[in-house]
Amino acid sequence: MITNAPPKMTAHGVNVFYGPKQAIRDVSIDVYQDQVTAFIGPSGCGKSTFLRTLNRMNDTVASARVEGEISLDGEDIYSPDMDVVQLRARVGMVFQKPNPFPKSIFENVAYGPRIHGLAASKADLDHVVERSLKRAGLWEEVKDRLSDSGTALSGGQQQRLCIARAIAVDPEVILMDEPCSALDPIATAKIEELIHELRGRYAIVIVTHNMQQAARVSQRTAFFHLGNLVEYGDTSDIFTNPREERTKDYITGRYG
Ligand SMILES: Nc1ncnc2c1ncn2[C@@H]1O[C@H](COP(=O)(O)OP(=O)(O)OP(=O)(O)O)[C@@H](O)[C@H]1O
Ligand SMILES: [Mg+2]
Repeated sequence: MITNAPPKMTAHGVNVFYGPKQAIRDVSIDVYQDQVTAFIGPSGCGKSTFLRTLNRMNDTVASARVEGEISLDGEDIYSPDMDVVQLRARVGMVFQKPNPFPKSIFENVAYGPRIHGLAASKADLDHVVERSLKRAGLWEEVKDRLSDSGTALSGGQQQRLCIARAIAVDPEVILMDEPCSALDPIATAKIEELIHELRGRYAIVIVTHNMQQAARVSQRTAFFHLGNLVEYGDTSDIFTNPREERTKDYITGRYG
């Protein structure tokens, strides 16, 4: 895929260690605006670890150490000047298991804009909540029950609520770590549709075990194996014409 825009995020020479154990080895990758990038590879190869370096979620793991350079719009996100709370609003995250707060649907979405000062009035906040729920494809299903608990929704609805929560603070990048693995095929299809719609607004990075899903939703695919980035390219090339033997073995189901 040809793009002239500069990368939204760039990782260069990234190593990640948990104590003495190295989980990511010398990974360099660019991620672009308006594109979905899929991370694939066998269990334990480091997909989640690398994804979490992109918004410094590894900071919360005491034994984790990150080396190398990662930038967002050219700005070093590991610089001591970087405000991590701000960073995580700019680079939002959706997890494998939907994890709404045990609060109302409204509060789940309103919390971020409120703490980040993104709404000047109650009317503003109402507007942000409605817009975010609409973008997440959930508004019609919840508009009459905004004060119900977020945890009372179905799994697929909870995941769309978590996406609405991430969107509410106007992120630039959305990281998704196996967002559909706890969902049934219908809820999964809804999330995939949503990813298509969101693509034009954000840079999206999705970890998935499901290669059909990677092929359906992404434009770029990165194949990881044993902490290494083996191959990164256009999704169509990775799936139809991989350059590396290890990629071919994985996508044809020979291991993993
Ligand atoms: N908090 C942690 N402490 C120590 N080691 C960890 C920690 N988290 C992950 N690891 C190790 O780092 C390596 C990469 O794990 P990671 O979770 O990133 O893999 P993954 O590709 O996301 O796997 P999966 O597909 O199963 O989610 C594994 O060997 C794992 O055991
Ligand atoms: Mg993982």
